[in-house]
Amino acid sequence: MDKLLINQNNFSNLFWKIVLTARNGLMKKDFENLSNEILSLQSLRDQADYNTGTVSPKSALWLFLLSRYFKPQKIAEVGTFIGTSGLSMVKGVESNNLVTELYTCDVSNSIDIPFQGKSNLEFFKKSDSTQMFRQLKERSIAPDLFHVDGRLNQDDLPLLVDLQVMESIILLDDFEGIEKGVANAFALQGIVSKSHVMIYPPKPEDCDSIELDEIFPGTCTTAVMFPLKLVNFTRQ
Ligand SMILES: C[S@@+](CC[C@H](N)C(=O)[O-])C[C@H]1O[C@@H](n2cnc3c(N)ncnc32)[C@H](O)[C@@H]1O
Repeated sequence: MDKLLINQNNFSNLFWKIVLTARNGLMKKDFENLSNEILSLQSLRDQADYNTGTVSPKSALWLFLLSRYFKPQKIAEVGTFIGTSGLSMVKGVESNNLVTELYTCDVSNSIDIPFQGKSNLEFFKKSDSTQMFRQLKERSIAPDLFHVDGRLNQDDLPLLVDLQVMESIILLDDFEGIEKGVANAFALQGIVSKSHVMIYPPKPEDCDSIELDEIFPGTCTTAVMFPLKLVNFTRQ
């Protein structure tokens, strides 16, 4: 007898449909507030030593919904820049009246990101991912979600194994063409190919809300490496 085959495309469609349910319980005003807060971060570009790209409003929305849905207790991020992605994820968790911990590093920037929530944010300024991962390992901090919006170093890989990345959700920004997200996926493949399934970035139609599309324009290029052990079948 043949098995039920679910390919990465089928699974990706279903994944984003489920994550979108995290918008339930929030009002248009909540999303407008989130959008205004992340747009206000643009003024921090004045402090940048390396003035580069920040995630799109649409990526910020999906990062918010992902963390609102999965409620990670510890998040590690490579590539802080002006904090759009980091704050979107923190706000996603806090929208459940929970707190989280964000550890975020940037090798070329040391920007002060304003934050008024209750979560614990630690900025590794002018530090690369290897330095941050080494410190997290020394302090026995194992993130349950990683957001990679920089280029992973070769030395990061054994540290990620020590940080139990095989158990964690991994978000990869810029997953298109030959951009860094694809290079990072290749780098990680060797350590998570058996534990994780690849979810392609959400397609424009995966956000089936004109209202959210208007508040958060652009496209999202965030792919997800999702640990199969976090998949559960439910009756309803
Ligand atoms: C695209 S920007 C990050 C944007 C940020 N996530 C946001 O939403 O504002 C990429 C940043 O990652 C930093 N970066 C790249 N590779 C890195 C690494 N291995 N460790 C730490 N920072 C890194 C760069 O200096 C750059 O500032």
